[in-house]
Amino acid sequence: MRHLITLLSINTDNFNAIIERSIEHSKNRFLNPTLLKDKVIALLFEKASTRTRISFSVAIRELGGSDLELQSSSLQLSRGETIEDTTQVLARYLHGIMLRTYSHRNLELMADLNQIPIINGLSDRHHPCQALADFMTIRQTGRDLRKTKITFIGDPNNVFNSLALGSLHSGSSLALACPEGYNVRPGISELMRKKNQPIQVYRDPVDAVKNADVVYTDVWSSMGQEQNAEKRKADFKKYTISEQIMKHAPADAIVMHCLPAHRDEEISTGIMEKYSDIIFQQAENRLHAQKAALEWIYGGI
Ligand code: CP
Ligand code: NVA
Repeated sequence: MRHLITLLSINTDNFNAIIERSIEHSKNRFLNPTLLKDKVIALLFEKASTRTRISFSVAIRELGGSDLELQSSSLQLSRGETIEDTTQVLARYLHGIMLRTYSHRNLELMADLNQIPIINGLSDRHHPCQALADFMTIRQTGRDLRKTKITFIGDPNNVFNSLALGSLHSGSSLALACPEGYNVRPGISELMRKKNQPIQVYRDPVDAVKNADVVYTDVWSSMGQEQNAEKRKADFKKYTISEQIMKHAPADAIVMHCLPAHRDEEISTGIMEKYSDIIFQQAENRLHAQKAALEWIYGGI
């Protein structure tokens, strides 16, 4: 049984197959219309979502299945039923669960039961489905992933961690620019170092973009970090991807954002507009990449 908890749940051959297959899905919305026939997959949310919610719902339907949206606040989970008991019960009705959670541990506990496929729709640590769509988007620009340098400006958060694991598969190099006091999680930086793909860390965003092919950012305060939002805003003040910073990047560099964006915080309004085609392509690609990921889980590739 396959679970998609982080991008290390997938081997490199399958990662590359998923990226290429996603591109095929982008050319034909009904490439595999019966894969999920008679299957019901729950989309369980502890946090807000626009892209993940809708793109999974449509992906499941276009693969011939049904989705069932659940809020954890309306389940007995919110009254103390354990995640393991909940999973045991849901596994008797459903064929898979996509979970968006505050605690990555919940996904591990569910997957350890190995009863139905579990998919990470974002946790505090990882956002693998986002990174699949991101690498697909970079491929669609015609770039060779092995020769692509991704520079992430901002908080080394869940999205960053998944880009790091994706870089291990794709062979892309990864750099980070963030303030003192914010660092790559030790497990991620050690793994990257061990695999000979160390993450280059800059404190100066201008230096960081100088040889970037892709300049990537995400919000400074992720869901669950709202109580520190003012401090983070002050700490990251110098790290807005702006026209001034992009002047130092190669002329053909692109800017990416997983969305939702906070304009004039992590990205200026002008840069958001300039790169809106690619940024909204990333959002669209969630649909195509998740179809390919569902095929990997349910046996289509
Ligand atoms: N990028 C992303 O996961 O968006 P949502 O939070 O809207 O799902
Ligand atoms: N890092 C952000 C991503 C949202 C898609 C968060 O976790 O809120």
